[in-house]
Amino acid sequence: MLDQASKQVEPVVVKERVSGRDSAKADLVVVANRLPVQPSSVGSGDGWKPSPGGLVSALTAVLQNRNGLWIGWPGTSEHQELPLAYEGIRLKAVDITKEEYENFYLGFSNATLWPLYHDAIRAPTFHRHWWQTYTKVNLRYATAIAESVAPGGTVWIHDYQLQLVPQMLRQLRPDVRIGFFLHIPFPPIELFMQLPWRREILTGLLGADLIGFQVPQAASNFSRMARRQSSATGTDSVLDLNGRTIRVGAFPISVDCEQIITLANDPAIRARAVEIRKDLGDPELVLLGVDRLDYTKGIQQRIKAVSELFEDGSLSTDKHVMVQVAVPSRETDAHYERERHNLEQAVSEMNGEYGQVGKTVIHYLHQNLPFDELVALYLVADIMIVTPFRDGMNLVAKEYVMTRRDLTGRLVLSEFAGAAAELRGAFMVNPHDLEGIKDAIRLAANAGPKEARDRMSRMRRKTYRRDVYDWAESFLAALQQTGM
Ligand code: G6P
Repeated sequence: MLDQASKQVEPVVVKERVSGRDSAKADLVVVANRLPVQPSSVGSGDGWKPSPGGLVSALTAVLQNRNGLWIGWPGTSEHQELPLAYEGIRLKAVDITKEEYENFYLGFSNATLWPLYHDAIRAPTFHRHWWQTYTKVNLRYATAIAESVAPGGTVWIHDYQLQLVPQMLRQLRPDVRIGFFLHIPFPPIELFMQLPWRREILTGLLGADLIGFQVPQAASNFSRMARRQSSATGTDSVLDLNGRTIRVGAFPISVDCEQIITLANDPAIRARAVEIRKDLGDPELVLLGVDRLDYTKGIQQRIKAVSELFEDGSLSTDKHVMVQVAVPSRETDAHYERERHNLEQAVSEMNGEYGQVGKTVIHYLHQNLPFDELVALYLVADIMIVTPFRDGMNLVAKEYVMTRRDLTGRLVLSEFAGAAAELRGAFMVNPHDLEGIKDAIRLAANAGPKEARDRMSRMRRKTYRRDVYDWAESFLAALQQTGM
């Protein structure tokens, strides 16, 4: 759900029974395209494991305290029996067919909305039959919620796959309180206007009592759009639609700081970091990139920049090395397939050009790494490079910062990631500006220890102040304050 590139491998979830309340309606319902569990291995039919990431932990915690239910898609169209509960919270599956997977998930969600909301970095594709399936699947979600939520209960809907659900649910269940949070950017008016169904999407979202975004700019884009394309009036933070009040605001998501700090202090993980560094040939400087393999992440551009730094001698193949982790994602989509192909070509060109026998300049992993291994890599990275062309937040940047207790690491960060609003101690770059990325890496590499320390401690303080649990609680608190 969120953009956490890491994937944790944990024990298979054992099927649990929920005592007494199986048939009861839930006081709090979280709705997301993905459930907090995923098939252990798609197609094998051999069980379920927890989905990775801090978001699942945070939402699980709030649901546990509030007689909660999580509704979502199990991530496979092959039938496997879903556990009734996970960590004491009930689960309810919304199934989608193979054809709906094509039209709703790969189509409208990931080939229309995803590129459109990310600055149209790839041209969005508009198909009426994708839109029809999006509507149909959203209605299925709304119906599943309406059947499950207690009278006067609270529903928290997540992300771009489900933007019609708030209004659909309001029609089915006007008694419930509805919150919506968008994990990805909300585009500027000029781009959103391209969407043939822009009014429908706006109306869908305006069914909520509270609409949350990652950054104030996205909230303002939305409110301006709503005032322009619907009969809503008001300000960027409070809209009035036919006498109903809708709150709009920024709720920047974060990571599980304590968990990351604990892992970063774990002797076994620290030993692993030493081992990785040794395996890399004990270089003077390790550069690291960790991303879901997505064309919005600017991975190729970053590799080109590093390549040119090797070429002009700013980086030396004897002393410097790069590691790029690309987590497999949406692999059945042609754009993603092409991105992988081009990326792997760039990696092999770089190694072909600058490597030596027994010595690669860039180590590339196209894998789901366990979170422990990722933390070890963060501990190894002297410079972390996060250069998305556009990103709702980017939790990799926050994860890195939380691991660097010794204050030695340096972060090169795109000014177009939501995280840039908070991580002001980073070396900021315009990810479209190749020379700018090179300059920022040079600056990061040459910054003295004091500068690095000051920057890192500033970023750590800021991140530590509000973790993912605070994020969830603050959204729910704001939702409870909305009028019914
Ligand atoms: C982003 C989106 C999430 C999505 C995740 C992984 O972070 O905001 O909604 O779940 O990417 O993508 P996937 O398509 O695999 O769910």
